[in-house]
Amino acid sequence: MPRTMTQVQTWQKIARNWANFTAPSRPSLGDCKVYELWTKRTLSTLRSPNILVLGVTPEIRNLLFKYSLTQDAKVYLADINKGMFRAMRAFLNFNNPNEYFKPCNWLKMPFQREFFDFIIGDLVITNLALKDKEKFLKEIKRLLKEEGRFVTRILVYKENRNRNFNLSQVLNQYFQQYQKAQLSLRDTLGYFYSAIVQETYYLNEKGEYSLKYLIADFEKLRKEIKDPLKKIFLGKFLKDYHSVLDDKVWVGMTQPAHERLVKKHFQIEKIESVRDHPFGDRYLIYVLKKK
Ligand SMILES: C[S@@+](CC[C@H](N)C(=O)[O-])C[C@H]1O[C@@H](n2cnc3c(N)ncnc32)[C@H](O)[C@@H]1O
Repeated sequence: MPRTMTQVQTWQKIARNWANFTAPSRPSLGDCKVYELWTKRTLSTLRSPNILVLGVTPEIRNLLFKYSLTQDAKVYLADINKGMFRAMRAFLNFNNPNEYFKPCNWLKMPFQREFFDFIIGDLVITNLALKDKEKFLKEIKRLLKEEGRFVTRILVYKENRNRNFNLSQVLNQYFQQYQKAQLSLRDTLGYFYSAIVQETYYLNEKGEYSLKYLIADFEKLRKEIKDPLKKIFLGKFLKDYHSVLDDKVWVGMTQPAHERLVKKHFQIEKIESVRDHPFGDRYLIYVLKKK
């Protein structure tokens, strides 16, 4: 696979494998409850509100459908990738006639200032390079009404880096949970992936995280494993996650660094964390109002 894949191509690959992914890469039920709560609080008194979804996340669109039905909410979807939009149709509960797809880059979106009552996006800011993150926040601020809210889930990195990360140990930990039937195969693989993201972002000094930095480690591990079931487990991870995400680069920040940046343009009204997956303290939902 060439190393120069664009965001669009990378996400097309992810779209084809979406069904294999689980929380926290996708919003959990707990995340959806939080999203629902703040959607309701923001929109309760409004007729025909305008909502902007950053991305095409089916879980969010499924919960917004109700507001289109009862309050005539108009739901605009901003995503650079038409393929992702098409692929996500399979995960929708309803077809929302009030939904409008706008292919665009979040750094410059084709809407008038203060058009939106509510802006929501799941794991969006980690898709952007460090240099673009503030530009993105300014664009959101431009589009949001004075009383509007921006609600977004964010992955924040740990402040204390684990420099003794050992891939084989982490694999064993998750493999055992699967073996003891404590978790489904899908959840175990998803948690294994999230654990690796959390522990290895420091491999690159720019705070980038990508499985591509671990190709040699995985290759070594694959050769070492003797246990046939563990071999299959790892093979499934390599197929469902590694071959899909080998080019995807996330750019995260620690929680204090992230909050310093956000506070330049927004007030933090609330930070929510969920408990229905083991990474709730790292995947935080920020409720933001314009400064
Ligand atoms: C919302 S994010 C993260 C995944 C998330 N958990 C979800 O449920 O969709 C995924 C989407 O962001 C889109 N994307 C990434 N960078 C973008 C950018 N700069 N502008 C517009 N869309 C972008 C990708 O095409 C992809 O469809």
